Amino acid sequence: MTSPTNSQIKEMAILAGTERIALRITDLCVQYATGTLALSNVSLTLRQGEFVAVVGPSGCGKSSMLRVAAGLLAASQGSATRSTEHVGFVFQDPTLLPWRTVRGNVELSGELRGTRRAERKAKAAEAIGKVGLSDVAGQRPGTLSGGMRMRVSLARTLASQPELMLLDEPFAAVDEITRGRLCDDLQRLFVADKFAALFVTHSIAEAVFLASRVLVLSDRPGRLIGEVPVPLPYPRSPQVRFTSEFTELTAQVSTLLTDGEKPLRAKKKKARETAA
Ligand SMILES: Nc1ncnc2c1ncn2[C@@H]1O[C@H](COP(=O)(O)OP(=O)(O)OP(=O)(O)O)[C@@H](O)[C@H]1O
Ligand SMILES: [Mg+2]
Repeated sequence: MTSPTNSQIKEMAILAGTERIALRITDLCVQYATGTLALSNVSLTLRQGEFVAVVGPSGCGKSSMLRVAAGLLAASQGSATRSTEHVGFVFQDPTLLPWRTVRGNVELSGELRGTRRAERKAKAAEAIGKVGLSDVAGQRPGTLSGGMRMRVSLARTLASQPELMLLDEPFAAVDEITRGRLCDDLQRLFVADKFAALFVTHSIAEAVFLASRVLVLSDRPGRLIGEVPVPLPYPRSPQVRFTSEFTELTAQVSTLLTDGEKPLRAKKKKARETAA
């Protein structure tokens, strides 16, 4: 008898109920009223405390998938089930209120949920400290750099203590140096808070640096065409990006993105030939 693989052991733990699922997406299809089929039959499971990245070509339905996962958009077919209502969504744009201070912006989610003033203030101060912005807590967003504004957005989400974080290309609008630093920050926050994260990005290096698994989607309609496990232990130092193991993993993701469609096309061609 052969011994079970790691993924089989994990599946058994899930079946036995000893491992908590944060998000389960099953056979998800998203079709808009315009007729555009954005996403086709995507299934994935995100465990509590797991960081999963999703990469795929522009327009393949990544944001649509996150919107369904957050409950902001209805599935056309299939489902997305969350085990928690403590969900944080980080958008590409920080979307801060310009007339409010950093503190005021971070307190907003607590205000909307009706959290008591003292508790709201304490949570906001803690979240602002975690992203390293305590010294500018009284300033307005217009006085901050792009990277600092993104940190405020992260702090606003962290203040609601999410168990599930959905991040849609949160660092796409900032320069490369800031992007690398924000990635380091996000990893530190993940290691400290252990939320489950589904992270959409166009950057393969960002995906490999942050995630324990990278999922690759096809061109629209997005289908899951592959998965690359990232066995690098957390916490990962910024220098891990210069190791041969890291380069090998990014190459695997890159190859899936460029070649992933080929086996599918070959299969379809063979099916057409057989039918003819
Ligand atoms: N509200 C909408 N109504 C109609 N079509 C939409 C709507 N939102 C998105 N789409 C279409 O669905 C497809 C997938 O869009 P989506 O934003 O999910 O892609 P994406 O993978 O996030 O792309 P990108 O990487 O560029 O952000 C696109 O063709 C887009 O034009
Ligand atoms: Mg998008």
